[in-house]
Amino acid sequence: MAEPPTLRMPKALQALGFLARELPMTAHAQRKLGDVFSISVSGLPPLVIVADPALVKEVFTSDASDLRAGEGNAVLLPLVGASSVLLLDQAAHMRQRKLMLPPLHGDRMRIYGEVMREITDDEIDSWPLNQPFSMHQSTQAITLRVILRTVFGIEDGAQMADLERLLPKLVDLGQWVTMIPALQRGGGRASPWGRFLRAREQVDAILFDEIGRRRLDSEATAERSDVLSLLMQARDEDGEPMTDLELRDELVTMLVAGHETTATTLAWTFERLLRHPKALERLQAEVTLGEESSYLDAVIKETLRVRPVLNYAMRRLASPTRVGAYDLPAGWQIAVSLVLVGLREDLYPEPLAWRPERFLNRTPETYGWIPFGGGVRRCLGASFAQYEMTTVLRRIVERCDLRAAEPASEMRKRRAITFVPARGAQVIVEQRRAAAANTVTA
Ligand code: HEM
Repeated sequence: MAEPPTLRMPKALQALGFLARELPMTAHAQRKLGDVFSISVSGLPPLVIVADPALVKEVFTSDASDLRAGEGNAVLLPLVGASSVLLLDQAAHMRQRKLMLPPLHGDRMRIYGEVMREITDDEIDSWPLNQPFSMHQSTQAITLRVILRTVFGIEDGAQMADLERLLPKLVDLGQWVTMIPALQRGGGRASPWGRFLRAREQVDAILFDEIGRRRLDSEATAERSDVLSLLMQARDEDGEPMTDLELRDELVTMLVAGHETTATTLAWTFERLLRHPKALERLQAEVTLGEESSYLDAVIKETLRVRPVLNYAMRRLASPTRVGAYDLPAGWQIAVSLVLVGLREDLYPEPLAWRPERFLNRTPETYGWIPFGGGVRRCLGASFAQYEMTTVLRRIVERCDLRAAEPASEMRKRRAITFVPARGAQVIVEQRRAAAANTVTA
């Protein structure tokens, strides 16, 4: 049975290298071993890393009963709950996906544009002039408010303030206690697990209360356009609605999957854009004319290519499976590397250079541009995220003259499973235009 090649080094060293210097190590392994190789992280079954579009297609289109993503996400259970689409596989997974897809689909996103612009305007108005600040912190505030208003449908100011305070705490603590299961004990006030449980209790109380209120006023709920209200009206193939618990779990899932990812991609977009003055000039010229800008879209696609927030789309093998020339036993994990695929020289000449022109008037290759993963597990929020990112970026560029706080590029820093700009994407606003001027209602 042919197994994928692996680096010749002790397993403990491989594990250490993978944890401490994952990106250089996998790039080195790809150069030495090719587009499929395995890495052993002590105590776990080998991880097979895949970086070739043809094999990516094989993995993404394989029978979902052989390749499972839900099992691999099981550690997230305390945070997202047992009905989360992230944790399910096969029929149960497809049921949740079918219920969630229509509210998050394509053109529907336009109805959220006004709210997205309003939230961005408020954030812009709070920025200091001629003083560095972290764009990442700002995009985190924007994307959280956007999710709360458009996905959760929160309108009440006090409830909004409570959730803005509690949700980052829940997700932050949740990342620690799910990554280090040994922390899941003791429930004392000071322990991480105790603090996590209390934050979860408080968040759940607000969410169940909100769901209950909307159920009571079903006529008003039917008129609403937020994602939660639409999910409450959705029916599965047997005509069954989602339960309160399912609704709660999917709300937290969309927050966990959609908040930090979108905020970080926006932060990287500014980190890259502000170091490419010609691109910034072109973008500014296009948005000021108020035209639909395909360049804007290309700027985001190129940023997602060189700085995908997540490195892997993971699948666990439920049965022995052949991938390319290799036979992989049940229990192994396949990690499609979003980073390595994005940096392929054959698809993207001079792959490290950030050049939005690559995507101008060109649809990316299905399996060669995969920052949102693929197949039956492809990101459910991809349309939402892309629409939000173009709306926020357009608004900021329209209203502000920006520059990078320092000329040197920011390195990638690992934060839980994401890679973020190491200094928080430090920027300086040199000039801010009034909200009313140049307003484009696209
Ligand atoms: C730039 C922003 C985002 C990026 C880069 C991103 C990326 C990803 C990736 C790589 C996956 C795994 C795909 C796979 O395994 O093949 C995923 C899954 C998912 N994402 Fe996103 N995401 C983003 C924003 C969002 C948003 C805004 C939402 C919700 C509103 C969302 C909801 C989800 C859900 C529910 C899944 C699980 C899908 C499933 O298992 O069937 N994501 N995302």
